[in-house]
Amino acid sequence: MNKTVLITGASRGIGKACAEKFREYGYNVLAPTRTEMDLASENSIHDYIGSITAPIHALVNNAGINPLATVGNLNFDDAHAMMATNFWAPVLLTNLLAPRMKEQCYGRIVNISSIWSGVTKSGRSMYASSKAAINAFTRTAAVEYAEYNVLVNAVAPGYVNTELTQINNTPEQIETIKNNLPIRRLAEPSEIAELIFFMASEKNSFVTGQTIFADGGYSII
Ligand SMILES: NC(=O)c1ccc[n+]([C@@H]2O[C@H](COP(=O)([O-])OP(=O)(O)OC[C@H]3O[C@@H](n4cnc5c(N)ncnc54)[C@H](OP(=O)(O)O)[C@@H]3O)[C@@H](O)[C@H]2O)c1
Repeated sequence: MNKTVLITGASRGIGKACAEKFREYGYNVLAPTRTEMDLASENSIHDYIGSITAPIHALVNNAGINPLATVGNLNFDDAHAMMATNFWAPVLLTNLLAPRMKEQCYGRIVNISSIWSGVTKSGRSMYASSKAAINAFTRTAAVEYAEYNVLVNAVAPGYVNTELTQINNTPEQIETIKNNLPIRRLAEPSEIAELIFFMASEKNSFVTGQTIFADGGYSII
């Protein structure tokens, strides 16, 4: 039987690359659009998950938003929307699917975090908080589910060549970022998808509760 993975935010960027990677390895891919499952709405998440009765073997909580604002200029509607999408949606999806994975004695959950969960930059206070929160949630969920062969990890990308990066950085800023990175380039979404696939597949049999930084060396200098 082919395994099934649920990937959020697979319309573009890292999520789209993940969907391609899992399909390449024979997975059934559930990639709901925002219309099918709006992550900012708990009801929408309940409705979508309630409609899926077939086993789900892996969950990739990938969708995320990052509206920039300095602390003194926070827009609290934006901040709440960001926490809903980046933190509460992965929490609710884990809450709904980890017990099912426990029943089937198999599950892999990968939460997409960010380098800004470990280091930071002006304008990222809420985004950094949402990603640090997901790292902490990942560790506790991992502790609770490890004995049932449900492994929970986070992948924290650095700068990836996606729309999110292009929206939040000018071309000049991107050139400076590249020059300051030990690896001297941005990641391609497919490179991040490769790591996510490993963590979310049966290839990963012993890693749990970790946040793996995939950042071309950004956080070590
Ligand atoms: N790009 C980077 O450099 C980078 C670095 C570190 C971490 N990350 C993290 O990696 C993940 C993916 O980033 P990305 O750059 O690939 O993002 P992206 O290109 O901006 O795509 C975001 C995805 O999330 C979906 N989404 C956003 N809000 C949603 C909602 N309320 N309901 C359903 N779907 C929603 C979008 O759907 P629509 O098409 O409907 O808008 C889209 O598919 C995010 O968690 C991000 O924080 C990215």
